[in-house]
Amino acid sequence: MSHAARLSLRRLTVADLDVVVAVYGGVPSFFELLIGRREVPREYVRDEMLVGPPGHEKVFLGLDRGGEIVGAADVLPTYPAVGAAWIGVFLVSEAHQRRGVGRAGVALVEQYAASRGARQVSLGVELVNAAGRAFWIACGYHPTGELFDTDVLGTALRAEVLRKQLR
Ligand SMILES: CC(C)(COP(=O)(O)OP(=O)(O)OC[C@H]1O[C@@H](n2cnc3c(N)ncnc32)[C@H](O)[C@@H]1OP(=O)(O)O)[C@@H](O)C(=O)NCCC(=O)NCCS
Repeated sequence: MSHAARLSLRRLTVADLDVVVAVYGGVPSFFELLIGRREVPREYVRDEMLVGPPGHEKVFLGLDRGGEIVGAADVLPTYPAVGAAWIGVFLVSEAHQRRGVGRAGVALVEQYAASRGARQVSLGVELVNAAGRAFWIACGYHPTGELFDTDVLGTALRAEVLRKQLR
């Protein structure tokens, strides 16, 4: 059985903050790349779970592998409008990377988005994150050339929108 075979999505709330903090703590290289720090504060993780664009539902999901949360994702099921979904954060703990968990997790998130009426899924990848970009392209996402500015803990970053049409 492959590493990703038993993967499922589990909806997480702030009651699961410790688990989510552990997932964020499991990707130190990612935060080092983005902001030059290998750890992020607990308050930042809490905001990531709770804060989204005003007026839009945000669903925070754990990637559950046989009862262990090995990654996390947030989805805006109707952003910017009904029929489209947006993936915010998408993380797989370094201990579980490069074994298909991310690819399987994206497929589950797409199924969830489709169940909420989405016909396309979009997301932003920071320009410094070449590995992340390669991952999304491997999952069938297309660069749009649309750039936007973002901020992670006071570090200004540029990101590009990638998009996939669902069948
Ligand atoms: C990007 C990330 C989610 C990938 O998760 P993963 O479980 O390792 O991904 P998978 O094993 O399913 O990889 C699927 C494919 O994506 C591509 N890929 C994954 N990681 C890659 C990397 N570091 N460099 C280049 N390509 C990569 C490969 O084509 C891979 O297929 P292969 O292993 O058969 O070559 C994970 O590395 C991560 O959490 N990184 C930090 C956060 C991040 O960058 N998130 C995404 C951007 S928002």
